[in-house]
Amino acid sequence: MDIRTKLKSNSARNRLYHHPLFQLNTVDRDKVSLLLGQYWRPLHFFPNFLSRMVNAVPQLAVKTAVSTILFEELGEGRVDKAHERIYLASLTDLGFAETALTDAEPFEETRRLVEIYAETAEDLLPALGSLYATESTDLAIVSGIGKLITAATGAGEIPWVDIHIRQEPNHVAQTDLTVVNLTPEEEEQVIAHAERMWQAWNEFFTAIERSFCNSPERSAPKEFRTCPDPQRAGLPAYSH
Ligand SMILES: [Fe+2]
Ligand SMILES: [Fe+2]
Repeated sequence: MDIRTKLKSNSARNRLYHHPLFQLNTVDRDKVSLLLGQYWRPLHFFPNFLSRMVNAVPQLAVKTAVSTILFEELGEGRVDKAHERIYLASLTDLGFAETALTDAEPFEETRRLVEIYAETAEDLLPALGSLYATESTDLAIVSGIGKLITAATGAGEIPWVDIHIRQEPNHVAQTDLTVVNLTPEEEEQVIAHAERMWQAWNEFFTAIERSFCNSPERSAPKEFRTCPDPQRAGLPAYSH
């Protein structure tokens, strides 16, 4: 089986796609602000991961593919189009305080996620796994977060979501070009590292979901709850 087919059918990837956090229909501003403050950390670090990878990997074709993604992440020559700038501009326009986004204390799971990016950036196979895991789920994550922003604020168009809808197909295409010419053993290592990254993302969103659900709204009538039914979602019940 082709490595891309194996990666696409990975269960950790599928869990991330269908994470219970993205199934919420109602959520308030404070909760979304908390999510956005945590998400800032990996978002802000990602260009560093990409540039370290470009520097460290030996294959020219991989450098070219990764630098294309880096160029888009950093705004294609215009700093105001860099994804992190668009993120902050989109959210401050919706009334979120910039400091709540950039200065939030990271959860342990958030810290760990960023650490894995830092740890894997300069070693070919781990870096390929981290890159693949990110780009193959990036649009789903951005769309999931965008849906929650809309639920909390009523926002229609969100420029930060729109730029991903435009650019992510190319990120996926470029990433597909990096996982070629690998031996079966190397492929296994890339898959293991991608799985580790997907798992870290699942833990990141689960920690946020837990913090959302640790609120009195848990006892609200079912249709007004902001947390998924723990039985339906296969989650442990919360304490109150
Ligand atoms: Fe991005
Ligand atoms: Fe991307």
